[in-house]
Amino acid sequence: MPDIGPYTLPNPVILAPMAGVTDRPFRQLCRQLGAGLVVGEMVSADPSLRHTRKSQLRLDHSGEPEPIAVQIVGGDPEILASSARFNASNGAQIIDINMGCPAKKVCNKAAGSALLKDEALVKDILQAVVEAVDVPVSLKIRTGWSPDHRNAPRIAEMAQAAGIVSLAVHGRTRACGYKNTVEYDTIRTVKQTVDIPVFANGDITSARKAAEVMHYTGADGVLIGRAAQGRPWIFREVAHYLATGEELTAPDLTEIENILTAHMVALYQFYGDFMGVRIARKHVGWYLQEHDQAKAFRKAFNSLESTEQQLEAVASFFRDTVRRKGMAA
Ligand SMILES: Cc1cc2nc3c(=O)[nH]c(=O)nc-3n(C[C@H](O)[C@H](O)[C@H](O)COP(=O)(O)O)c2cc1C
Repeated sequence: MPDIGPYTLPNPVILAPMAGVTDRPFRQLCRQLGAGLVVGEMVSADPSLRHTRKSQLRLDHSGEPEPIAVQIVGGDPEILASSARFNASNGAQIIDINMGCPAKKVCNKAAGSALLKDEALVKDILQAVVEAVDVPVSLKIRTGWSPDHRNAPRIAEMAQAAGIVSLAVHGRTRACGYKNTVEYDTIRTVKQTVDIPVFANGDITSARKAAEVMHYTGADGVLIGRAAQGRPWIFREVAHYLATGEELTAPDLTEIENILTAHMVALYQFYGDFMGVRIARKHVGWYLQEHDQAKAFRKAFNSLESTEQQLEAVASFFRDTVRRKGMAA
């Protein structure tokens, strides 16, 4: 199993950081359902933003299983170094640097994958952050900043030399946004270039796809992002398939209802009822998107304002779905 610094992961399947999605309730759920590691929403390195409610919630790791991985984003080596120190003192056991997300600018400086264009700055950032903390530092990148400039292998070498312990590579360039298909060739080249663990990322939607991508790229593991939205059990499916070569049966409706209901309750507890109800809307939409009648349900659901109404609506959706399936059988 891959190591991230001193931590040996129980399996090589990681929840990718997603702002607005990988909050503490979702991370805990994904861990329970088999993720080998989870990464929180990116945290701005800017200290003046540290006291906002959004940052406070992102900095809350209480009750999370170890190792706690916190991703920081910014464009200034010293500010990122100080953010790494702050987060390590706040419980982060792995610091992940975001050079993978198409975030435009933070504090009027390039940040996220925009940094890949400035290799000298990348080097300064990596050195400054690694030197700043005793905890392991990982890096998330794209394959480059445009299809003509896929410099991920060079960045990877630089990262290894700076003491970065592992790399996650999303198989798109910055210029691609989320369009175009993912290409895994550059990830394969990165894996051949460095000795530190490399995790492949991008459009991994099933256990078989994860196995194929790992086989093709030689990567030590995968990061799964969007395919986990509304389907957090994907982690146990992928981990099981990688370990045994056999596919797990999909969860039945009762299990899905139980997972979703527990998720909603965790959101209410974490955010409070007002915000929790709003955040639950998008998750419920994701869980139910593959079911018949989901579209009509979603419209009505999004107008509900209380936790009780939301929980009752979900319970009734599942009762109706079970009844319809029973009649069709
Ligand atoms: C809603 C959303 C938010 C994201 N936020 C972050 C982030 O905070 N940090 C980061 O490095 N990448 C972020 N990403 C990129 C994902 O980590 C991942 O690289 C990308 O979605 C590709 O993986 P996937 O095809 O499995 O979703 C985000 C992606 C989405 C869809």
